[in-house]
Amino acid sequence: MTSGAPGPSVAPEGSAAPKPGARLCALSDLADPGAKGFEVRDGEARFSGFVVRRGDQVFGYIDRCPHAGWPLALEPDRYLTRAGDYILCSGHAALFRLEDGVCVGGPCAGRRLTPWPVAVAGDEVIAA
Ligand code: FES
Repeated sequence: MTSGAPGPSVAPEGSAAPKPGARLCALSDLADPGAKGFEVRDGEARFSGFVVRRGDQVFGYIDRCPHAGWPLALEPDRYLTRAGDYILCSGHAALFRLEDGVCVGGPCAGRRLTPWPVAVAGDEVIAA
């Protein structure tokens, strides 16, 4: 997904968002640190989000940069910097903290990614 054109809503409250409790993946499916994207379509509704793992913690965000509204990754699941220490927007290289999605460098510094509530239950990552 590389288009920057406006599209259907990707808000977590959209009808296509995984319902609370829905299994997303196994924790062991995620590298540490690592990330994985999820795209769900339900008719005209669309949801694009991703989860980021650091240790036993997993954070979820809507896949939309607060700078220009573009998806963050040019390639599937490539949300992190090479060192895995920040979320990287491939649009204009904004950097976001893994734990709260706050932009610490780039054209949207001080703004943040939209959270997508997720949780870890045993070895499962679920929508929360
Ligand atoms: S769209 Fe993300 S930094 Fe510009």
